[in-house]
Amino acid sequence: MRIAMIGSGYVGLVSGACFADFGHNVTCVDKDEGKILALKRGESPIFEPGLDDLIKRNTREGRLSFTSNINSCVARANAVFIAVGTPSRRGDGHADLSYVYAAARELATAIDGFTVIITKSTVPVGTGDEVARVIHEARPDADVAVVSNPEFLREGAAIQDFKHPDRIVIGSDDERARYIMAEIYRPLYLNRAPILYTSRRTAELIKYAANAFLATKIAFINEIADLAEEVGADVQEIARGIGLDNRIGSKFLHPGPGFGGSCFPKDTRALLQTAHDYEVPLRIVEAVITANDIRKRGMARKVAAVFGGSLRGKIIAVLGLTFKPNTDDMREAPSIPLITALQDMGAKVRVFDPAGMEQAKAVLTDVTYSEGPYACVDRADGLVVVTEWEQFRALDLAQMKQRMACPILIDLRNIYSDEEMRKHGFYYVGIGRPASHLGNQP
Ligand SMILES: NC(=O)c1ccc[n+]([C@@H]2O[C@H](COP(=O)([O-])OP(=O)(O)OC[C@H]3O[C@@H](n4cnc5c(N)ncnc54)[C@H](O)[C@@H]3O)[C@@H](O)[C@H]2O)c1
Repeated sequence: MRIAMIGSGYVGLVSGACFADFGHNVTCVDKDEGKILALKRGESPIFEPGLDDLIKRNTREGRLSFTSNINSCVARANAVFIAVGTPSRRGDGHADLSYVYAAARELATAIDGFTVIITKSTVPVGTGDEVARVIHEARPDADVAVVSNPEFLREGAAIQDFKHPDRIVIGSDDERARYIMAEIYRPLYLNRAPILYTSRRTAELIKYAANAFLATKIAFINEIADLAEEVGADVQEIARGIGLDNRIGSKFLHPGPGFGGSCFPKDTRALLQTAHDYEVPLRIVEAVITANDIRKRGMARKVAAVFGGSLRGKIIAVLGLTFKPNTDDMREAPSIPLITALQDMGAKVRVFDPAGMEQAKAVLTDVTYSEGPYACVDRADGLVVVTEWEQFRALDLAQMKQRMACPILIDLRNIYSDEEMRKHGFYYVGIGRPASHLGNQP
């Protein structure tokens, strides 16, 4: 199959490289010429484990190419994927669909022969109808079928997720489109990945329902963590105790500083706006959004409480900035409101992240960027672990303690055990653990 992938970000690039790896002929398009130039040099513009190698190999073997010119690749394509961003629209929380419609208008002019247009971006229900309308408006003669094929990959494990998906959702009633989609995903089908054929609107809503449900699990365990702290229970054991129940499942039951990232916050907001438009109350989703917003802001108060409520003049080290490990993505990362609030309370903030520091520079001001975790904690009055990068799990605790002015560790991801931290002489505060587990007083 000849595929054009419009938008070469986290989703477009990973999907494009994986489709090429399946044997298809893929051209990734992006209007950001810097990105395309970097890709042509063999450099990935994003940090995603395994992606560099995948891009290099498939480019070398002639199945993957990059361009900022949409026309020629769309004209040759059997299938054109739209994988552009759908951020929150400023002001009202609706999904901003301007990039999707702009891409649809641009590709319409280049279509040649029957072409399947696939929306891979996360878009509100009904967007496919509008994409079809936009294309027919620009090119009344165009022979197209517009399909919804939402993407469920996770940053940090994107290639594995794309190649071994729990399911593939294809929203279309058009037989020709279903045939082409089946051909595109054939290697995964042979691997027994379930393919779910639905209507276009159902596929669009599946994506939002999935993200809202996962966000609900996180918000739920975070509230249980708060209660556990108050009543002297341990949320880690509660998460295990409920997660072993197959009806519940153990994933997404990790308490933390609140969910962030490029999907859950914007997608829950957009789903709520769709529900408002249709006058259908989604009170659970509404509560999840509110609880999560409050939680993100509350994390700085948790840190301040350890210092008796005031952070004036304190040096606080922060390990981990990205919204989760194994990505450089800073979009809506919980570290942003946390660090801003720490600064508002008078703290000087020093940070380290293995991959996200360049991206962080665009959103965080007045922080000191460190070369590594040990430099970050030098003479610090306290350390806050915000993102659970693997390398933070195995720090030399003796060295950390020796470097710190005051060995206080606030672990917002529960990556350490209180027993271990106490043994090393730290005052340790995790999430959702009983007060009796606290170590030496500061
Ligand atoms: N990031 C994830 O983990 C993830 C997972 C599942 C679904 N999604 C969804 O996939 C979509 C893309 O997300 P992303 O994280 O890859 O976004 P991104 O911002 O990383 O990438 C989008 C890219 O599209 C390009 N672009 C915009 N308009 C264009 C146009 N007209 N022509 C060519 N290129 C254009 C931008 O320059 C950018 O490089 C969103 O709807 C998102 O919700 C994201």
